[in-house]
Amino acid sequence: MEQKIFYIKTFGCQMNERDSEIMAQTLSGHGYIESMNYQEADLVILNTCSIRAKAEQKVLSLLGYLRKAKKNRPSMKICVAGCVAQQEGSRLIERMPHVDLVIGTQQIYHLEKHLQRVALEGSLVVTDLRDDYEIPQFLPEINQLGRAFETHLPCPSPRPWRKFVTIMQGCNNYCTYCVVPYTRGREISRIVNDIIEEVKAFVKEGVQEITLLGQNVNSYGKTNAVAETGASYTFTDLLKEVSQVEGVARLRFTTSNPKDLTDELMRSFRDVKNLCPQFHLPVQSGSDRILKRMNRKYTTSEYLEKIEKLHDYCPELALTTDIIVGFPGEEDRDFEETMNLLEKVRFHGSFSFKYSDRSGTVASTFAEKVDEEVKVARLSRFQSRQDEISLERNREYIGTVKEVMIEERGLDGLRGRTDTNHIVHLNNCTAGHAAGTIIAVKIIHAGQHSLQGEVYNLH
Ligand code: 5AD
Ligand code: SF4
Repeated sequence: MEQKIFYIKTFGCQMNERDSEIMAQTLSGHGYIESMNYQEADLVILNTCSIRAKAEQKVLSLLGYLRKAKKNRPSMKICVAGCVAQQEGSRLIERMPHVDLVIGTQQIYHLEKHLQRVALEGSLVVTDLRDDYEIPQFLPEINQLGRAFETHLPCPSPRPWRKFVTIMQGCNNYCTYCVVPYTRGREISRIVNDIIEEVKAFVKEGVQEITLLGQNVNSYGKTNAVAETGASYTFTDLLKEVSQVEGVARLRFTTSNPKDLTDELMRSFRDVKNLCPQFHLPVQSGSDRILKRMNRKYTTSEYLEKIEKLHDYCPELALTTDIIVGFPGEEDRDFEETMNLLEKVRFHGSFSFKYSDRSGTVASTFAEKVDEEVKVARLSRFQSRQDEISLERNREYIGTVKEVMIEERGLDGLRGRTDTNHIVHLNNCTAGHAAGTIIAVKIIHAGQHSLQGEVYNLH
């Protein structure tokens, strides 16, 4: 079989990272090898994100750049996958005729088949999005894990000891700002057995930490039957079942919508021993008026009640959130309420964004757009205060001993991650600490974005 070289660049979320791994695995199974250098590639794949305009612009400018690369190497095939591909479809090829394949979010599993058609028939757009779609089984192979670890740069895929497992795709919530329901389609949950088998296969290859992935994991099992018997089955059931797979040392999940967060799931932070005490719970705004316009279906007091309960069940829980500033109609008083919420919850960290109009969404039709300067000022005020709080929060760890999973050796020593998902730099480590091992570390210093520690109890 003729060996071809491919290069993948991944933009956006963890689901895209997992999808890129799957595409890489498909190609490796068909005689391709991966390169970190797009210039030598026979196939360049851009796995794209369209959540905000900026993400989409990055893709378009990279595609413009690739036009030149293709001139120098006319045999190079260019494939656009992911959310921009799904949304733009044939418009992409009209604007960028050097693109050979536009492949939608449900089609990546069939990448090789589509590439064969491109070779025979020329450029192709495959963006069908079905409601009754089944995510196929994709079991990892040991050499794939190793390969992805060594060469998947400059956008590294998760390390072999830490893997994402997609449990569902799509979203039925239609938050008014969000493009996901249009790019990923209706919510579809994977079959329990497929997920468990994938987790087991990963563990067999040495993976210790599993993150269950979906746009809206709390609704797992709600829209289609996932258990063999057809009996009702919730996300909490799945979480428990995965936690019992032997060898899963750490379990995480993302993302959750507060409206679907059940008491049963919150209790899992107390009852499921390998579930890490870390939770990403996007609130988006601290103003009830804005939450309503966002179609989030919860109020700030409901959100705060849930936070209180979560802390009762798991006092050491580290909370993070997503915030949008400058949503259409957001006034100063609404933004002040977001600042107040930040003071009340004191999130360990947050991802905050300026609202960005996405075509096809309801909010893009709202009239009261907020001026760019106002958005910039609000974002900067929110982020400065969050940085201070993150530092204060991180300082609370100084003097404590945490379990840290070693991730990689940098120039200045080892780097690892706590169960609360904090990065820890270690200064007195030895070569014996291989990636993936969990060691006790005493935290001695805290910065805004990471901790510093010493290996505790060296034998
Ligand atoms: N503008 C700005 N931020 C957005 N997000 C989603 N859509 C938009 C948008 N149109 C943010 C939300 C979401 C995160 C993944 O991206 O905060 O939780
Ligand atoms: Fe988008 Fe809302 Fe669905 Fe999250 S829950 S993917 S923000 S529509």
